[in-house]
Amino acid sequence: MQLIDGKATAAIIKAEIKAEVENMVSQGHRRPHLAAILVGHDGGSETYVRNKVLACEACGFESSLIRYEDDVTEDELLARIDTLNHDESVDGFIVQLPLPKHISEQRVIEAIDYRKDVDGFHPVNVGRMAIGLPCFISATPKGILELLRRYHVETSGKKCVVLGRSNIVGRPMAQLMLQKEMGDATVTIVHSHTQNIKDECRQADILIAAIGRPGFVTADMVKPGATVIDVGTTRVPDATAPKGFRLSGDVDFEHVAPLCGAITPVPGGVGPMTICMLMLNTLAAGKKEYYK
Ligand code: GUN
Repeated sequence: MQLIDGKATAAIIKAEIKAEVENMVSQGHRRPHLAAILVGHDGGSETYVRNKVLACEACGFESSLIRYEDDVTEDELLARIDTLNHDESVDGFIVQLPLPKHISEQRVIEAIDYRKDVDGFHPVNVGRMAIGLPCFISATPKGILELLRRYHVETSGKKCVVLGRSNIVGRPMAQLMLQKEMGDATVTIVHSHTQNIKDECRQADILIAAIGRPGFVTADMVKPGATVIDVGTTRVPDATAPKGFRLSGDVDFEHVAPLCGAITPVPGGVGPMTICMLMLNTLAAGKKEYYK
């Protein structure tokens, strides 16, 4: 069994990005600039955004953190998005999700200029991704593809099962695994209303779990030798942990790991790659690689 080390891979990629940025700067280009909007004080979102700002520093990017309290109105947020859309010093920006209930996430996502949508959530980017055109690809699926590539996991012609159909992970993951130039695999999406979930999962050469249910994937659902990618990061109360919780993946790692060919741990697998791919998207935005 091979452990797929997302933390180490992300560190290598960030060093590659930093080298490219310093090269750009030495040629008179300004540093890529990522802005992040954070609404409220959700613990998970605070951590994610802090890590995104730290990753920007590691990559030599400029970053801006824009904070609002929970009671910000949708109009205020949309006005700020409009300002960022027109701010030529900002290459890309994100609005950290989830947002408070009184704000429409879809309206917010669609208000972002797709040329600065480094999260890849805007329908223009989602649509272009689905038909294989150059675009910002959402960071988690992009990071998983990068891990599979760097660990030489053969995907072409293989059977891939994606557990979960969220807009952020499951759907784009399935699209990318399907595409000829990407995964080139035979893809099944398994969701809460799928019949015989266990049998479907057992067919997978590559099993990607993104449902947010700790320990859902048990040993009897995994084909021996399969590659297992665990996207789950649920906070589970743990009195012995320094912060009072630990992160739990969707896979019963202890019992699944011994029988699979390769597996990502939680933490240290997909998570660090996700932020790293946001950095790659920001670099592409800075270079106007996809859109002028
Ligand atoms: N919330 C959870 N994951 C993400 C992400 O990748 N981007 C944003 N903006 N919010 C998130």
